[in-house]
Amino acid sequence: MSEEIKKTAAWIEARIEGFRPEVGIVLGTGLGDFADRIEARYVFEYKEIPGFPLSTVEGHKGRLIFGRIEGRRVVAMQGRFHYYEGYTMRQVTFPVRVMALLGIGCLFVSNASGGINPTFRVGDLMLITDHINLMPNPLIGPNMAEFGPRFPDMHNCYDKTLIARATAIAEREGIKLQYGVYVGGTGPTFETQAEYRYFKTIGGDAVGMSTVPEVIVARHMSVPVFGVSVITNCGLSDEVGDHDDVQLQGRRAGARMERLFREMIKTL
Ligand code: HPA
Repeated sequence: MSEEIKKTAAWIEARIEGFRPEVGIVLGTGLGDFADRIEARYVFEYKEIPGFPLSTVEGHKGRLIFGRIEGRRVVAMQGRFHYYEGYTMRQVTFPVRVMALLGIGCLFVSNASGGINPTFRVGDLMLITDHINLMPNPLIGPNMAEFGPRFPDMHNCYDKTLIARATAIAEREGIKLQYGVYVGGTGPTFETQAEYRYFKTIGGDAVGMSTVPEVIVARHMSVPVFGVSVITNCGLSDEVGDHDDVQLQGRRAGARMERLFREMIKTL
């Protein structure tokens, strides 16, 4: 596995002419428009990158984009791989391993999620302060010791310095922020009412079907992480979950998330 990751990183390196990305970005459901505004230098379809799985879910493009945002060198995943699509956890997290090998200094992750915290509203941005993993752990199996330790520490999983910086930016820019614990489930079902209540009881503020595997792998490789959830529905209300709605709410809040990400990148 580690050989395959290195091979893919080398394949990319041979094509990006020394363009070393400073920041990795993963764009979630409905948030991919941001990628279209990157000053792109090198764009790869996932299907042309050796070792990459293919993206199948609606609303996700499958492109890895190298370019500049606010003058900084970034690499962005426009579309990610979800466990519910049938990929193994190794496939889900493969691109993050590759981005880490390419030298990113931090990883920005975003997702659409269902609000559990009753004070949250549809369209809110939630900075992820911690997570509860209810998916299989992507590090199960032989440890790739050259990448990180067998038993990685998960304190400060979501970098406190980056959270503090985002808080200051949001205040200055008038962007409303929520803070909370992201519960990562497998999907693809949205939760039952009993499950939303259960997630609230165990300390969750929002629930989604992604992010946690990528974050665990980034932390395994000691990459600092900044995570944002767009609250696309409120689980404890009577409304039902709907993928079209998730995409629409994602796009609406996406502009605010983009502003926050841009300002964050400026200050790195
Ligand atoms: N549950 C799980 N994943 C989600 C939800 C939800 O309510 N909304 C958007 N992604």
